[in-house]
Amino acid sequence: MIYALAHPNIAFIKYWGNRNQQLRLPMNGSISMNLSALETHTAVSLASDISTDQLWINNGEQSGSALARVSAFLDIIREMSGRLTFAEVRSTSNFPASAGIASSAAAFAALAIAGAQAYGLDLNEKDLSCLARRGSGSACRSIPTGFTEWRPGSDDNNSYAQSIAAPDHWPLWDCIAVVESGPKPTGSTEGHALAPTSPLQAARVADTPRRLDICRQAIQNKDFEKLADIIELDSNIMHAVMMTSQPALMYWSPASLLVMKEVRALRQSGLAAAFTLDAGPNVHVITTEEHHETIKEHLSALPGVQQVISSPVGGAAKLIEGEI
Ligand code: PMV
Repeated sequence: MIYALAHPNIAFIKYWGNRNQQLRLPMNGSISMNLSALETHTAVSLASDISTDQLWINNGEQSGSALARVSAFLDIIREMSGRLTFAEVRSTSNFPASAGIASSAAAFAALAIAGAQAYGLDLNEKDLSCLARRGSGSACRSIPTGFTEWRPGSDDNNSYAQSIAAPDHWPLWDCIAVVESGPKPTGSTEGHALAPTSPLQAARVADTPRRLDICRQAIQNKDFEKLADIIELDSNIMHAVMMTSQPALMYWSPASLLVMKEVRALRQSGLAAAFTLDAGPNVHVITTEEHHETIKEHLSALPGVQQVISSPVGGAAKLIEGEI
């Protein structure tokens, strides 16, 4: 049995839309931060006596689309290794899968690491990031440590993420205001396919190198004001594309908007707070070590906020010893 651990990540500059849907080659680069308090642990063991892959998530046996997606991912590893044996995969997470936290990023980063090792592949960080990308694009950013940047690349072997700063470079926190915990109506795989139907997507993509530069510099210089402006802009641009796709994707709920407005008010009052939303209604509020407890208190008191999950910056995905 091989065990691995990975953290989800929250994107500061978002990935939305693929140039190649099958290989998950993105339309644009992206930058994110890993979330240390949130973990997915995955165990993989090869079993010669089973005739199909088997998958357990949080102790529940899976079938249907979840199993098919993992099995298709294991097929890639089998092809790389030349070993055809099926595998038993057990995965547990310490955060709700449907809380709008990128559960698939941590899931496929951990599965890439444990799966590659179980099938005897010796892959470096770049190769593991390329592999994780095939399961879920954003998973490639959960392989390296801290703040990471995924450069879009041009083919399967050069589209991967690298660390641009270690976790202790800038002790930021993500306070996630959970406003809905049900499953999202349209998953991101389907959403990426709709991105080109928005007339705004081309403009979003064309302007991305500029936003990436500003975000990278803000991280390097630990400039919170600059970071706040660019991540809120980037989140709004992505949601504008989503809302203007055909069919339109509307991920915000009234409570999301309320939290966003409160975050702007908190920032005006001198607290470090900036919002960003992925493909769901929950609001990730990025803040500093100094202010994270105050921000958590403010968010928890807002109507519609069910809970606030908070995390500092996380490390790389890795193999671990022992049980899950
Ligand atoms: O990796 P996917 O296919 O789940 O896409 C992630 C998309 C967003 O979370 C909305 C943005 C991002 O860059 O993480």
